[in-house]
Amino acid sequence: MPAANPFQDPLRFERRVPPCAIVIFGANGDLTKRKLIPALYRLAYDRRIPPGFAVIGNSRTPMTDEQFRAKMREALNEFVDNTPIDEGLWDDFSKSLSYYAGDLNDPECFNLLGKKLEEIEQTRKTEGNVLFYVSTQPSHYEAAINGIGRAKLAQGSGWRRIVVEKPFGHDLATARSLNNKLHEVFSEPQIYRIDHYLGKETVQNVLAFRFGNGIFEPLWNRRYINHIQITAAESIGVEGRGSYYQEAGALRDMIQNHLLQVMSTIAMEPPAVFESDLVRDERAKVLRSIRRIKPEEVPLFSVAGQYGPASIGNKDVPGFRQEEGVSADSQTDTYSAVTVFIDNWRWADVPFYIRSGKRLPKRVTDIAIQFNAAPHSPFDRNGADSTPGSRPNLLILRIQPEEGISLRFLSKDPGEGMHLRPVSMDFNYGTSFGSRSPSAYETLLVDAMVGDATLYTRQDMVEASWAAVQPILDYRETNHVDFPNYAAGTWGPKASEEMLARRGHVWRTP
Ligand code: BG6
Repeated sequence: MPAANPFQDPLRFERRVPPCAIVIFGANGDLTKRKLIPALYRLAYDRRIPPGFAVIGNSRTPMTDEQFRAKMREALNEFVDNTPIDEGLWDDFSKSLSYYAGDLNDPECFNLLGKKLEEIEQTRKTEGNVLFYVSTQPSHYEAAINGIGRAKLAQGSGWRRIVVEKPFGHDLATARSLNNKLHEVFSEPQIYRIDHYLGKETVQNVLAFRFGNGIFEPLWNRRYINHIQITAAESIGVEGRGSYYQEAGALRDMIQNHLLQVMSTIAMEPPAVFESDLVRDERAKVLRSIRRIKPEEVPLFSVAGQYGPASIGNKDVPGFRQEEGVSADSQTDTYSAVTVFIDNWRWADVPFYIRSGKRLPKRVTDIAIQFNAAPHSPFDRNGADSTPGSRPNLLILRIQPEEGISLRFLSKDPGEGMHLRPVSMDFNYGTSFGSRSPSAYETLLVDAMVGDATLYTRQDMVEASWAAVQPILDYRETNHVDFPNYAAGTWGPKASEEMLARRGHVWRTP
């Protein structure tokens, strides 16, 4: 009998979005216009949005419904991706959008929201289902949760759920306290902590690749894998987000959340069934198995970098400390690299090298799995030019751009003699499927509306990933680095190369 396939159940894939209202706190912010409204519009375009649907935007800025709609219409022009704007569809869709100004610290803001929700339930037939979406500045998260709790909006005639944007806490202690606050008002199954990397098609495809195929899994462990590199490089700087980023830095902004989740996708055990809590249990186990670094080991297991000014292609690029909103002696990391060990039977002693940075040479996110070299090569006895040992098999999972997978192996160079050369076998999403992939936010919004939390993080996952980086954060509080230590447009500080060199490894250039 064939082994059970965890994906047999088509549940996740053929789902009808139920009638509901989405309340967006922070509706005047960047996320709403760049991600949320374009994703909802695209879902409407794909006929995934039910007739009983409404969005209520809130922020402090006074605006009429009409002004809010006009603003969202402009946002679509700029941010909707690969989707024509159909005026008839927009007309209908825009009728579902409304807005009210209110201060989250003022109980009146939530009394008013309660009335609006009742009204909308009648006029737009949303059946009392409400998805609260908190995308304000993090300092206002608690006010939003308190307000919902006080006005008793966390329960109603339909389901009530809350999506909390990142950053989820600033460190382990604040993440715990945010979890406690949420639990005063919502139960865990109502809480959806978003990590948009988990919604990316290519990250989901890692699961399909690993658990839908039989040939990779036997190799997927410490016996065959030498080490793994996870890279998330961005060529942009902080793009007007200097004051936010100065408080966050690369370790908090990318590694603690997105990249540790990517790592857990690579490292988790196969779930028996592709079901929310079973999948999340497996991810959580990985995150809890991350080896804790002792304070004195921090410099050996992590590297912080900050970009300095440079001239790239005849253009002067400012250093991080010269960016708007950033202090001239900022100690924020715009680059971080860490070595992670997962202490379990599958992965013991296999290094996972994870790096992320701003102003690197290009935008690329990928995972490179380097297998052990062939134990012996019969071909290089007389010092021929091929040295298979130094060119082990490499499996590259390309998350973005140029989404795909390639496997590098050695092949005989045509001609006389036995000269070997690395070649690669490539799978490319675009050419294989030829269809547009949904954005992470489209996927995740549908998931939250249908009540599927598989691709959202759970309390234990968030706390375990904060616990993993906490020793590094603590160390950096008091041990300052001589920043800037890499020039904009380069692959980060030299210390990062040295971190890998200590184990005889080298960062690949993606
Ligand atoms: C966000 C970070 O969570 O992810 C940003 O706050 C970063 O700093 C972004 O640029 C990267 O996301 P993506 O989907 O463009 O890789």
